[in-house]
Amino acid sequence: MACTGSEGNNAPKAEQKPNEKREHMRIQERAFRVYTDEEHFEDVIRFYEGLQGIGCERRVRIPETGVEAAKVGGFLLLAGDRERVDAVRQVGAIFYLDSLDEFSSWLEQVGAEIIHRPRTVTGGRNLTARHPDGLVVEYFEAGRARPTAAGRATMKAWKLDRLGGKLGFVDAPIPDVRPGSVLIRVETQSLMSYLKPYLEGALKAYRAPEDFIPGGNAVGVIEAVGADVWHLKAGQRVVASSHLVARENVQEPGQILIGITSPGGVGDVLQQSWKNGTLAEYALFPAQAVTPIEGLDDYDLAQLTAITRCVVPYGGLVRGRLAAGETVIVNGATGAYGTAAVLLALAMGAAHVVAAGRNKEMLDQLTKAGGSRVSPVVLSGDVEKDTAALRSAAAGGAHLAFDMVGNAKEPNSTLAALGALYRGGRIVLMGSSTAPVPLNYLQVMFNNLEIIGNFMHAQNAYLPLLALVRSDQLDLRPIRPNVFSLSDLEHAMAAAETAGSLELVVVISQHRNC
Ligand SMILES: NC(=O)c1ccc[n+]([C@@H]2O[C@H](COP(=O)([O-])OP(=O)(O)OC[C@H]3O[C@@H](n4cnc5c(N)ncnc54)[C@H](OP(=O)(O)O)[C@@H]3O)[C@@H](O)[C@H]2O)c1
Repeated sequence: MACTGSEGNNAPKAEQKPNEKREHMRIQERAFRVYTDEEHFEDVIRFYEGLQGIGCERRVRIPETGVEAAKVGGFLLLAGDRERVDAVRQVGAIFYLDSLDEFSSWLEQVGAEIIHRPRTVTGGRNLTARHPDGLVVEYFEAGRARPTAAGRATMKAWKLDRLGGKLGFVDAPIPDVRPGSVLIRVETQSLMSYLKPYLEGALKAYRAPEDFIPGGNAVGVIEAVGADVWHLKAGQRVVASSHLVARENVQEPGQILIGITSPGGVGDVLQQSWKNGTLAEYALFPAQAVTPIEGLDDYDLAQLTAITRCVVPYGGLVRGRLAAGETVIVNGATGAYGTAAVLLALAMGAAHVVAAGRNKEMLDQLTKAGGSRVSPVVLSGDVEKDTAALRSAAAGGAHLAFDMVGNAKEPNSTLAALGALYRGGRIVLMGSSTAPVPLNYLQVMFNNLEIIGNFMHAQNAYLPLLALVRSDQLDLRPIRPNVFSLSDLEHAMAAAETAGSLELVVVISQHRNC
């Protein structure tokens, strides 16, 4: 329908033919800009979602203005403190375009005032113009490489063409958020001790995709959230876990360790979908693998990164149903995860922890860090002798054994831990062994022993783990961070390979000034 009527003072100048010019330009989408404060932001988002019957498509913190933005259908909702919002409040709408430059000259020709000329901003370029009638509009053209983080299209990342292949520190595209995902600006991550042999293809049990970014954990800040993400928000500090289990309600949903390995089967398909890990400035993660870190902002970030190590044994101790007041044997206690397991078992209320290992010096350091509830046992490799030593240290027996041996060549220490359980005791097998563990059938049967295998942790494991840190029950400080920059991966990997079990190699991304 043509819109006709008498011309007012603000009508376009008579000699111009705006419609002719407009043929080559297209407004792809329009949205009202709505302003609110941070406190009411969630309510405002919910209102406009309800009004239009759709979800929020995208949330991002705009670094140029410090304002948080959420796009919900025909509305761009903006929140921030009063000063920041007031600085942009005059803009009443945003028009998404295909060609900013064409609009820029057309607007000038028709008498609009250009408040800001075209400039690069987060995700593209924009200009701000006051129409002849007074309406102030942001004209926005998305960058060729889709909206990106902090106005950048690329990031630094470690890329490996295949396990055992070529590793390079390259410029890679910053991933686009997609439904169900969050884009994390990675701040820190811990390295596993065997990262180097893993990348070199020396660990045959691992399956990785081709041309991928390795790295399996991160602490960082959410840069943007995709559609179908309901709770996580841009600007929130989070911890990302590599453990991803497919969401469908089927008997055996596929699972992978993002940026590390797939056990095969559906996992390989899942891995193609979530190919890249965290050894980069930004990482795209499924929302379900990300947990907000609240109330720990004052914690030193490198130190806090120790939670990425703790969550693994935490998963096993929970699966082993560790109850406060029980006695626990940790086998492999001189290893990285075993040491963390000792500290966690204490934090979770174990009355007594027997730390079993072969290295006396490391056991002594651990006992010092753990305190009076820890009893070290130096293993000899003789099952009978070691069983007796463990029982004696446990003052009769243990309720739970947590086995975290790494790449064991024989089963002796595992059998000794099993033999030192009370009747009805449980053993959680969580490490790795190249040798089978021969079971004494009658011993297991007569003693009601429970043998529990465990891979990783429950999806929500970080919530109670973080609560243990927040409430000072779990002190992360005995695990000392040794910090390297992202670009210095060679040295970081070498340090991780030789690090003591009370040491954590932490890689910090360059965009953080630590
Ligand atoms: N189930 C899961 O979800 C999961 C998750 C992550 C990792 N893992 C596995 O956990 C294992 C441990 O990782 P980590 O980083 O803690 O390794 P680590 O630091 O190398 O520690 C390995 C520990 O195992 C001990 N050990 C090795 N062989 C032994 C044997 N025959 N008898 C007694 N103790 C033995 C080592 O003792 P010494 O110091 O005396 O050699 C050391 O204490 C890895 O192999 C990994 O595959 C499992």
